[in-house]
Amino acid sequence: MRKLIAGLAIAASPFFVQAALAEGEGGQEAFNNNCRTCHSWKEGDNRLGPNLHGIIGRKAGTAEGFNYSGAVKSSGITWDEASLDKFIANPNGLIPNNNMKPFSGVGDANTRKQIIDFLKTNPN
Ligand code: HEC
Repeated sequence: MRKLIAGLAIAASPFFVQAALAEGEGGQEAFNNNCRTCHSWKEGDNRLGPNLHGIIGRKAGTAEGFNYSGAVKSSGITWDEASLDKFIANPNGLIPNNNMKPFSGVGDANTRKQIIDFLKTNPN
C-alpha cells in the first residue's frame, strides 16, 4: 500500500507543476490565442499589427516602422488599462475606421484583463 501511494504521488506531480505554470502564464496564453496572429510583444517586431512592447503609456500610432491607419494615428490616445480594455472589447467603438481587421474584439472581460495584465509586465 505504501508503495502504491508513493507511486501515485510521483505520477501526479508533473500535473501539479503544469497546473501551476498554466496559472502563471494564463495571460500569455490568452494573448497567444487572441492577438499573436498579428502582434508580437517584442520591441521592433512589427507583423500584421504593430509590436506591443511597452504599450501601456505609449502614444497610439507610434511603433516605429509600422504603417498605421490615419484613424489610430490621429486618435490622440495614450494607451492605459482603460483605453486598452475598450479597444480590445470593441476596436471600432473606440477608434472608428481602424485597420485592426478582421479582429472583432474579445467579449470576455476576464480574458481582456488577463491580456492587459500580461502586457503590463512588458515582456521582451
Ligand atoms: C487580425 C490581426 C489582429 C489581431 C488578431 C489583433 N490586432 Fe491589434 N492591431 C492590428 C492592426 C493591423 C493594427 C493597426 C491598426 C491601425 O493602424 O488602424 C492593430 C493595432 C493595435 C493596437 C494599437 C497599437 C498602437 O501602437 O497604437 C493595440 C493596442 C492592439 N492592436 C492590441 C491588440 C490586442 C491586445 C489584441 C488581442 C486581444 C489584438 N490587438 C489583436 C491587427 C490585429
